[in-house]
Amino acid sequence: MRAIVQERYGSPDDLELRDVAKPVAGDDEVLVRVRAASIHPDVWHVVSGRPYVLRLMGAGFSQPRNPIPGTDMAGIVESVGKGVTRFRPGNPVFGETIVSHQWIHGGAFAEYVSVHQDLLALKPDNVTFEQAASVPTSGFIALQNLGGLRQWRPGQRVLINGGGGGVGALALQITKAYGAHATAVDSTSKLGMLRSLGADEVVDYTREDFTRRGVRYDLIFDVPGNHPFSACRRALTPDGRYVLIGHERFGASGQRVFGLIPHFLTLLLLSRVVKQLRGPGFPMTTKKEAIAVLRELLATGKITPVIDSTYHLSEVREAFRHMIEDEIHGKVIITPAAAEA
Ligand SMILES: NC(=O)c1ccc[n+]([C@@H]2O[C@H](COP(=O)([O-])OP(=O)(O)OC[C@H]3O[C@@H](n4cnc5c(N)ncnc54)[C@H](OP(=O)(O)O)[C@@H]3O)[C@@H](O)[C@H]2O)c1
Repeated sequence: MRAIVQERYGSPDDLELRDVAKPVAGDDEVLVRVRAASIHPDVWHVVSGRPYVLRLMGAGFSQPRNPIPGTDMAGIVESVGKGVTRFRPGNPVFGETIVSHQWIHGGAFAEYVSVHQDLLALKPDNVTFEQAASVPTSGFIALQNLGGLRQWRPGQRVLINGGGGGVGALALQITKAYGAHATAVDSTSKLGMLRSLGADEVVDYTREDFTRRGVRYDLIFDVPGNHPFSACRRALTPDGRYVLIGHERFGASGQRVFGLIPHFLTLLLLSRVVKQLRGPGFPMTTKKEAIAVLRELLATGKITPVIDSTYHLSEVREAFRHMIEDEIHGKVIITPAAAEA
């Protein structure tokens, strides 16, 4: 099969389209013929091998352990392992290709990928393969950090900082689906998109600082983390909750060795004395639960993924450059179609 292969950490220029062996589904795995895969900032982290600590966390010490990047895809089931009962050949499916955390290559930038059955769901008919491929890990990150959705009361006020990005746009739609009053913060050109995704209020970060609006929120879901927690606290109700996703801006944060990990550890320590911060007991969603919830939200039209652009597998370097250098509105998709031609 044709696949993108990376033999050393570096830049998108180190990615090459090659012929490699087609994977074989293990007992609990499903072999999927990929129709679409998506790029997100964590794929860049493993391509670049930064922060360096990810090399000790399973990505591969001196080179990527799995040479084929990509963690999110949608496609058609080709074959199933003997322990698989929920899927059969011909089913349209979508899901995430890695069982563990996101800082590892998952083999999705290929014509075929083998995926654990728990990480897959049937693709709803009302979304395209491109849309379905754009959702799995961003949706998982959003759900995991929204936590305890069943406890949500309609009308609770949520602020999504970075609401126009891959994770933020899904977090915005998920909180709206659960009845929240949502305020989304992003740049000027994304405000129309945020309104169309359901934001009740929008804030242009180039003109206004949300921490100084005099409005308090029950939840601040902070993707870029561009304000210190002490400033965000001004905009939280006394029982409100602050969650940081964090964004290293493709290396611009300058934290080459540990990335944002020290910052997260500081917040975790502070959570012992500040109840607005998430402590170790925060309810966590499993990937199996998340993909089922995401399927339901897609099928009922409660989340509508936005696609910025689609590139062929052979154009993967250009796709990465577009994500890193340009202002994107929605997700960037990779499709193996060109490799078939
Ligand atoms: N997407 C995934 O599937 C995924 C999966 C796992 C983990 N993550 C992690 O989650 C983080 C976010 O990923 P993402 O895909 O959501 O990134 P993204 O698409 O780049 O979204 C970040 C958003 O924040 C906006 N932003 C930048 N500076 C801002 C500011 N000062 N105030 C408010 N908004 C600002 C950006 O707008 P501009 O265009 O103006 O910069 C962009 O819309 C990353 O660290 C990533 O590693 C993502």
